[in-house]
Order: sequence, then structure tokens, then C-alpha cells
Amino acid sequence: MSPMRWLVTGSSSGIGESLVRNIIARGDKVVATARGDLYRLSSLKEAGAETFTLDVTASLSDIKMVVAKILESGPIDVLVNNAGYIEAGLAEEATYFETNFFGVIKTTQAILPHLREKKSGFVVFIGSSGGIAGEPGAGPYCGTKFALEGWYDCLKQETAHLGIKSVIFELGFFRTKIMDPANVKLRSEPIDDYKPIRDGVTQFVQSINGHQPGDPKKAVSIIIDVVKDEGVAQGRPLPERLPLGPDCLATLRKKAVSNLNICNEWEDVIRSTNFD
Ligand SMILES: NC(=O)c1ccc[n+]([C@@H]2O[C@H](COP(=O)([O-])OP(=O)(O)OC[C@H]3O[C@@H](n4cnc5c(N)ncnc54)[C@H](OP(=O)(O)O)[C@@H]3O)[C@@H](O)[C@H]2O)c1
Repeated sequence: MSPMRWLVTGSSSGIGESLVRNIIARGDKVVATARGDLYRLSSLKEAGAETFTLDVTASLSDIKMVVAKILESGPIDVLVNNAGYIEAGLAEEATYFETNFFGVIKTTQAILPHLREKKSGFVVFIGSSGGIAGEPGAGPYCGTKFALEGWYDCLKQETAHLGIKSVIFELGFFRTKIMDPANVKLRSEPIDDYKPIRDGVTQFVQSINGHQPGDPKKAVSIIIDVVKDEGVAQGRPLPERLPLGPDCLATLRKKAVSNLNICNEWEDVIRSTNFD
């Protein structure tokens, strides 16, 4: 099989950086992108990646220009929508979607014409256990990841007949910089009524940062296996969604059981709403 050429957003740290290094180690080509100074990607360049500046909150036309430049030196086979961060805060205070949701939509829209033309390609979405179930104090983040799940579900069905595959990986807690207090955004004018919840979130972020159970290297190895239909993915159908990490498995199971219980306990009521 000839090497694939991947495009990864948010490659300056964490899952993105690890993914780029693993893609190179597996013999594929990769375009690593990050916002800001390209100097931040110099070690990935030395490792063999092509590097481009891409802020996923830029306008769609600007993102399309970057993608066009990337395509000048060859086709892209896989887009990994990885860039993201955590905004903690209460549901009533939430105001943001730019990076985790609209950034993914715009980057995907910028690459889709190319994938449609060549009638092949793979789009990878990095979801979260926060896109399966909400937690107090995580409204802004969970909102973006829930939105991503819905948008992905539609896109997957709309593009399958064009030879374009896609999958969403739902990550539990993985040890990256995502929980670094410098990266977790908190609102500056909080609503007093929610103080206990906000304090709980702050404490949780401080206690889990650096102690997350998940190993990013193991996650990215599985992500690459699934895209390439190798390793742990061999002999299994492409999953619609794949939770990664025992904590995420527990969240998905709890949600599935809860949904099933609602269906069973309320079935007669739920079924009673059609016209007679
Ligand atoms: N680690 C976890 O526990 C976990 C769990 C569930 C889901 N996820 C998801 O995994 C993905 C990667 O996160 P991570 O854990 O690897 O965290 P990370 O180490 O903080 O990396 C996040 C990456 O996203 C980049 N980014 C943020 N805003 C961006 C923008 N506007 N344009 C381009 N890049 C941007 C960051 O770049 P800068 O260096 O410029 O900030 C950084 O490279 C995210 O989508 C996250 O929601 C992670």
C-alpha cells in the first residue's frame, strides 16, 4: 500500500503532536499544522513532517487558502480534526464554540471538495466522553463535543457514497496539556450562584492535571490502526464511533443503560403521541 498523506490540526502538543510522530514512524507522510509561529513545529519538521500555520478559528476563506497551499504539493488522504481546548464554566455562562465546533466544520468543509473529487479519503474527528454525557461545570466544552457528534453523524452518511470514510474517537482523560491551568479557560465575570460548582471544577482540573490515566501514545496508535485498517483494527468493521479509555467506556455504558431504561420504563407514553 502506498503511503498516505495526513493533515493534522492542533499539532503543537498532546494528541496532535503524538499523532504526527506516530504517522511518520508508520511510514506515512504528514502535514502538521498549528496556530501561531511555525517555530513551534520545528521538532516535528526535523522528524519529517511538512508544517503549515493553521488557526482553525480563521475564516473559511482563509482556511481554504491554507488547504489549497497544502494541496499544491500533493493530495491529502486523511484529515484529523484534532485542535481543541477546554472552556470550563456553567451552562448559563457559555458563549464559545469557535475552535472545537466551528473550527472543525470549517476545516472539514475546506478539504471536502478535494476528497469528493478524488472519491476517497478519511476524516477523523476527535470527540470526548464530554460529548456523550454532560458534567456540571463543563457546559461549554460538552456543548461543543455534543454538537460535533451530531454534525459528524450527518456528514458520515452524506459522504459515504462518495468514497469518503469518517470516524469519531471519543477520548476519556488522556495526559496532555489540555487540563493545564494555563490552557483551561474560565469566565472572568462568573455568576455567584454557581460558585460551589465552579470551585469544584477548579479543584478537579487541578487534581487531574498530570494524573490522567490515558496514555496519548496508545490512543494515537489505535487511531492510526483504525484509519489504515491495520493492527487492532484488522478484521473488525470500521466503527461508527470509538470510545478510548476505560473511563470513557464507563460513561458510554452508563449513558446506554440510562437511555435503554428510559425506553423501557416510558415506552407506552413515548408511543402515545401519533395522530389517532
Ligand atoms: N486529553 C484529553 O483528556 C482529551 C479528552 C477528550 C478529548 N480530547 C480532545 O483531544 C484533542 C486534542 O487535545 P489534547 O488533549 O491533545 O490537548 P492539548 O495538548 O492542549 O492540545 C490541543 C491542541 O489544539 C491546539 N489548538 C487550540 N486552539 C487552536 C486553534 N484555534 N487552531 C489550531 N490549533 C488549536 C493547541 O494549540 P496551542 O498550542 O496553540 O494552544 C494544541 O496543539 C482536542 O480536540 C480535545 O478536545 C482530549
